[in-house]
Amino acid sequence: MNWNFYRPTFAADSAPEIPTAVLVGGAWSGHRRFAYDIVRYAKPKTIVELGTFYGTSFFSFCQAVQDARIQTKCYAVDTWQGDVHTGPYGHLNIFQNVHSFNSRQFSAFSTLLRTTFDEALALFQDNSIDLLHIDGCHTYEAALHDFTSWLPKLSPNGIILFHDIVVKLPTFGVHVLWEQLSAVYPHFQFAHSNGLGVLFPKGCTESFKEVIDNQNLLVRHYSR
Ligand SMILES: C[S@@+](CC[C@H](N)C(=O)[O-])C[C@H]1O[C@@H](n2cnc3c(N)ncnc32)[C@H](O)[C@@H]1O
Repeated sequence: MNWNFYRPTFAADSAPEIPTAVLVGGAWSGHRRFAYDIVRYAKPKTIVELGTFYGTSFFSFCQAVQDARIQTKCYAVDTWQGDVHTGPYGHLNIFQNVHSFNSRQFSAFSTLLRTTFDEALALFQDNSIDLLHIDGCHTYEAALHDFTSWLPKLSPNGIILFHDIVVKLPTFGVHVLWEQLSAVYPHFQFAHSNGLGVLFPKGCTESFKEVIDNQNLLVRHYSR
């Protein structure tokens, strides 16, 4: 398996706009290096993220694109208003901060779409997204809706990442959806940092079949 475990420097870590506590101590923090490595491994042409907040996950994808100098377009979709689980962002200028850092560091290939997920659907052609990260509202109904509405946009052999697949708090239902989807489609998963599922609902390349076969190596490495 030709998977590299990089040791990246994340530009976001030195960005005054992005709180360090969110980047290194937030729910997504434990997956940043995997996010970076999977972009460098898969070399997706189009990455779309549903749910960005301060960009812990999104800027990890962007960092890999920049470092690898690959021709990838990255799109972050979020209202930046919060949801039932994050709570309303209110007077916090999260969008302005994310926008400021994105413009300075990644604007050549990265676009922030400040809209609902449903409104953003029309901006993408069917079969066009190679890596889709679903991390919006975490109720079962919302996660199922995001999966079913965006699945047609995924390219053949495309990858979907789901965050929070092990969170079993009341009203969190991604774990139920993950149980259903992972029973049907090729996948691997991590249990740390609220859990991250990696799903191949439209087929899986030979190189990712190898990764699935060697998933224990990745789980051991990233969960350390
Ligand atoms: C859990 S946070 C995303 C966390 C982020 N991936 C990270 O790395 O920290 C979920 C985000 O999804 C956004 N969101 C939820 N449902 C949405 C919807 N239907 N349309 C647009 N944004 C939505 C919220 O505003 C919130 O910022």
